[in-house]
Amino acid sequence: MFKKSDTSSLLAKTKTYLSDAQTNYAADSVSELADLIRFHEWCYYVNNQPVISDYEYDQLYKILERLEQEYPDQINPDSPTQRVGSDLSPDFETVEHLVPMLSLANSYNAEDLNDFDEQIRKLALIPEGEDIEYVVEPKFDGGSVALVYEGDKLVRGATRGNGIQGEEMTPNARVMRSIPLTAPFSARGIHKAELRGEVLIRKDNFDRINKDRAKNGLALFANPRNAATGGLRMKDPKEASQRGMDAFIYQLGYASNTEGAAVLNKFETHFSAIELLDDLGFKVPMDVSKLCSNISEVAKFCEEWEAKRESYPYEIDGMVIKVNSKSIQDKCGFTAHHPRWAIAYKFKAKQGTTILRDIEYQVGKVGSVTPVAKLEPVFLAGVTISSVSLHNEDFILSKDLHLGDTVLVERAGDVIPYIVKAIEDARDGSEVKVEFPKVCPVNDTDQPVDLIKEAGEAAWRCPNCVCGEQTLQRIIFHVSKTAMDIDGFGKTIVEKFYDLGWIQTIQDVYDLDYEKIKTLEGFGDKSVNKLQLAIDKAKQNPIHRLLHSLSIHHLGKKVSKLIAAEISHVLDLKDWKLEDFINIKDVGPIVAENIITFFAVEKNIALLEQLEALGVNLKQTEEDRPKIVDANAPLVGKTILFTGKLLVVGRKQAQEMATAAGAKNISAVSSNLDILVVGEKAGSKLKKATALGTVDIWTEEEFLNKINN
Ligand code: IVH
Repeated sequence: MFKKSDTSSLLAKTKTYLSDAQTNYAADSVSELADLIRFHEWCYYVNNQPVISDYEYDQLYKILERLEQEYPDQINPDSPTQRVGSDLSPDFETVEHLVPMLSLANSYNAEDLNDFDEQIRKLALIPEGEDIEYVVEPKFDGGSVALVYEGDKLVRGATRGNGIQGEEMTPNARVMRSIPLTAPFSARGIHKAELRGEVLIRKDNFDRINKDRAKNGLALFANPRNAATGGLRMKDPKEASQRGMDAFIYQLGYASNTEGAAVLNKFETHFSAIELLDDLGFKVPMDVSKLCSNISEVAKFCEEWEAKRESYPYEIDGMVIKVNSKSIQDKCGFTAHHPRWAIAYKFKAKQGTTILRDIEYQVGKVGSVTPVAKLEPVFLAGVTISSVSLHNEDFILSKDLHLGDTVLVERAGDVIPYIVKAIEDARDGSEVKVEFPKVCPVNDTDQPVDLIKEAGEAAWRCPNCVCGEQTLQRIIFHVSKTAMDIDGFGKTIVEKFYDLGWIQTIQDVYDLDYEKIKTLEGFGDKSVNKLQLAIDKAKQNPIHRLLHSLSIHHLGKKVSKLIAAEISHVLDLKDWKLEDFINIKDVGPIVAENIITFFAVEKNIALLEQLEALGVNLKQTEEDRPKIVDANAPLVGKTILFTGKLLVVGRKQAQEMATAAGAKNISAVSSNLDILVVGEKAGSKLKKATALGTVDIWTEEEFLNKINN
């Protein structure tokens, strides 16, 4: 039997097979590969701790299939290809499915889909040029179930188990409100039916479950699938009902009449069977499926779904393509593992395992030290990832990271890639625990500089604000869009000028030798003139931008504006005391201390004086004085959105009025929205806001009245 301690050597063997998938292996590789696959199945199903991604597992499986085709005499009856995966537990009663619940073969791109179409043509003798109709449905990522109805009543619910036998979980099926306890099958000539489906937990519901578990000190679920499969196998149906599980039905697997004769062939197509289940009150994926008239339509639909998978409320890991015609299905038949008339189109893996090779430490503009993991490159959801942020020391400690660890990396939608966890079982003892540095890792002085950590902060900081790395980061921030907004002056250009020694301080930004820049490769007259114009324009910026651009710790855009509104010249702040700052609403003592410290340093005063001498504006003009919203303004703290055609004021003017009244304009209806102002012909936004039930809906007149009051 397998042991956790075997993990690191078996993982190394796995990686060799995967890195050299096309090799012509000898016959004796068949049993070694079968053993490896059995080990990964054990990790996944028994130990609940996979050490490779689903994609890697599929690749391994494919190599075995290829080898077994080459050496058929090596096929062992207990080879992983000769049966479907098993997750049977001795805790539940085992029941036999009316027909086996098979798995699906996998495809990954349009080419694989074309091969599938080609294969169907061969099996069902369909000539080229004659299109085959397919139904494409989401591939739900939850726990599969089989539901048996007899005499219109739900009589049994079971998990998939090993595909032949499953675990009986009728009480848990009965608590799922999307599963009808009775359904009028008999009116359609069906006495006994077995339905296939997937039990899922909505993503937002999953977040709530995990929040509750965190509050109660319970271990968190890694994903909605684990929460759903765990929910299916709960001993207490009351507890199962609290998971709020939903069941999508995607297949009518068996149907017979009162005489016990099969009536499945009454349905000429898969789609008509799904329509029947829809009519009978089951939750079927009708509105998210498509009846495609040929394989290229299928590929297009799959790609569309891949792009929008994150916005779907349930986790899906691909699409399932099924031949629509039952007679073509019958001609294709089954293998021991999957139907030949259906295939899964797997989305690009969001998760993968790789090795944590090293950690680099970057020092930001206020000296915060950010650890960045350097990974063995891993291809996830279409992108190669070789480095991910580890945020801070606490993050590293919470994951107990070691150099050399096998780590699980995830890249989902717009989320920045991150390390989910280290796979402890894969350690072989050669890994080295990560020790966060105590001294500045990029220090360019002769003496080591101790890092500091302020109370309530997660980041370690280097207090030496003049070290090269920090200066560079400050200059990059100074010219950035958020700060002085110097158009065309990006990070790469700053780094280039810094390396050439042309910019060593912020002052140098305003004292560039433009003729010299023109001699650089890639810098034509036109682009240099544009840069010069942008720099000259930035010199006239209102002073709140300059204040913000100085990289004073905690001094953000908002507080810069609040302070700028109270001064006539930036250097006025030299004389400001703590109470001057904290008398301004929303300015706290921590940022106040940081500003005082900044203005107490002679070098910083010299910087500002030199900037003024170079033409940078340090004076506050009345016109530039930021408009501070009165705390008693009618819409303070509210978010607002306008939709439809406004009749009295234009959209832009209405938005400005809302801002002046203290509201924040946002662009979409979400749970963050407080007020929706509806003009004529308001459409989906109004519908969505009404459905949310938490948004105040005003007419234009009501809005104008509120503002004027
Ligand atoms: S059809 C004979 N349709 O995917 C039909 N399966 O890897 C075989 N799954 O265990 C299954 N969504 O639980 C089918 N729309 C869908 C599906 C689906 C998810 C699961 C199913 C199965 C696994 C196969």
